[in-house]
Amino acid sequence: MDLYQPDVVNVNGEDFRVYLTHEEIQQRIKQLGLILSNDYKGKQPIFIGVLNGAYIFLADLMRYVTVPCEVDFLKLSSYGDEKVSSGQVQDLKEIDANLKDRHVILVEDIIDTGLSMKYLVEKVKKKNPASLSVITMLHKAEATQHDVQIDYTAFKIPNLFVLGYGLDYAQEGRNLAQIYIPDVDNK
Ligand code: PRP
Repeated sequence: MDLYQPDVVNVNGEDFRVYLTHEEIQQRIKQLGLILSNDYKGKQPIFIGVLNGAYIFLADLMRYVTVPCEVDFLKLSSYGDEKVSSGQVQDLKEIDANLKDRHVILVEDIIDTGLSMKYLVEKVKKKNPASLSVITMLHKAEATQHDVQIDYTAFKIPNLFVLGYGLDYAQEGRNLAQIYIPDVDNK
């Protein structure tokens, strides 16, 4: 079976075109896996994935990490089905693992305004981890309004709506193997 990676795709009535290819994404994640494996030697980190968006990035990233590690998830929502943040973060699922004295790595698909990650870092710090770092697949630096901790970034991207590879548009499109942006020329 081939991965789902068309050049152009229509999601919820809008056209999107490829911005980052499957190969580009995988190559960068492989590099980050190597860096994390070095940085966390002997530390048995626990990756905390932010559902829903981060599940695909986290699944691929962890398979390039060659030191013993663990995983857990939490779920936040600030966008609902919209393209613009509601400005409020909601806890939809809590972390089950005990993070006290653990080396915690928070994993996001995207840091946009920075609101979700700022909220999350403050929340996890209260659990007294041994260390806390943040990795994001995408960072929309121009859109970030909050002073947020980011230790590892796969790709810095312009201030455009992005879709695919875990990221949705009204819950659709997460299964695309590449990252897409609006295809404005196709209107
Ligand atoms: C997205 C993304 C981050 C957040 C980033 O989540 O996964 O958690 O928005 O935006 P911010 O930096 O402006 O806070 P979303 O609420 O869309 O939920 P989802 O991951 O389930 O799609």
